[in-house]
Amino acid sequence: MRAQSVSGTKKSDVPEQAKPGRKAVGRVPGLQDQGRQWNRHAARYDELFLDAFHPGVENPLLAALDAVPEPARRTVADLGCGTGPLLPRLAGRFGRVVALDFAPAMLARAKARLGDAAAGIIFEARAMHDLDDYAGQLDVAVAVNSLVMPDVRVIDRTLRAIRASLRPDGVFLGVVPAMDAIHYHTMLLMDRALDQGLAPEEAERTAAFHGEHEYYDFAFGRFQFLGLRQKFWQPFEVRHRLTKAGFSSVELDQVLYPWDESLAGGADFADHPRSWDWSFVARP
Ligand SMILES: C[S@@+](CC[C@H](N)C(=O)[O-])C[C@H]1O[C@@H](n2cnc3c(N)ncnc32)[C@H](O)[C@@H]1O
Repeated sequence: MRAQSVSGTKKSDVPEQAKPGRKAVGRVPGLQDQGRQWNRHAARYDELFLDAFHPGVENPLLAALDAVPEPARRTVADLGCGTGPLLPRLAGRFGRVVALDFAPAMLARAKARLGDAAAGIIFEARAMHDLDDYAGQLDVAVAVNSLVMPDVRVIDRTLRAIRASLRPDGVFLGVVPAMDAIHYHTMLLMDRALDQGLAPEEAERTAAFHGEHEYYDFAFGRFQFLGLRQKFWQPFEVRHRLTKAGFSSVELDQVLYPWDESLAGGADFADHPRSWDWSFVARP
């Protein structure tokens, strides 16, 4: 992730109240702040963050989506859709497509990406835990790098809401940022520095610098960057939280990223296994 200065956005751009006709949800820690932060980064999101659907990325979620039978009869929701990189694949294929994000500026970018196809999509400017009116209606829920609220109480509440939004034979497909992949990158950076002849203390400093450790809380799995505070996940936590939220089956896989200039030292690590995020398929 690269640090860039970004322009601010009006606080009023983030919805504070539930829409008329929907039950208001209680105050959720960090929601307003993080909603605003995501909103203000919408304009430059695509240049600041890695895209899990970029052609060079191996993403098992795409095959899982292709495997959904009779998509024209199904409702799919892209939860935390952001600027909408997944939406073009869903529009026109699934019978009903919901694109949800609590940052209106993200939804505006997603609409612009879709052009005329946006007319067939239901856009929801709200938080992902606020799904009461979708209870039991979704065949497929998707969350790609959007289960990132830094407070795990919000994550647990969101996962319970997603579980409740699914039909009994529905499926939840997700990608979450991998904390252990940062440890892996650190190991490779450390080995490289030692191979270059640095003393251990200096090698550690170099690895920490290039691995951008100043942005991470490794113990609690968090990443803080440009005002965004994001949860990073260990694989055991993916299983733990999905099971705790009531999912009966959880299968993990990896989204694999090419070694390129977006990761420090990428060119030197081309012979090593690729870095990853965690993907999962969870069933109620
Ligand atoms: C890292 S971006 C990923 C966007 C998109 N899914 C993608 O693959 O590019 C995270 C997105 O999730 C949204 N988001 C994060 N937490 C959310 C929440 N609790 N409710 C609704 N949207 C949320 C943010 O506004 C942002 O657009």
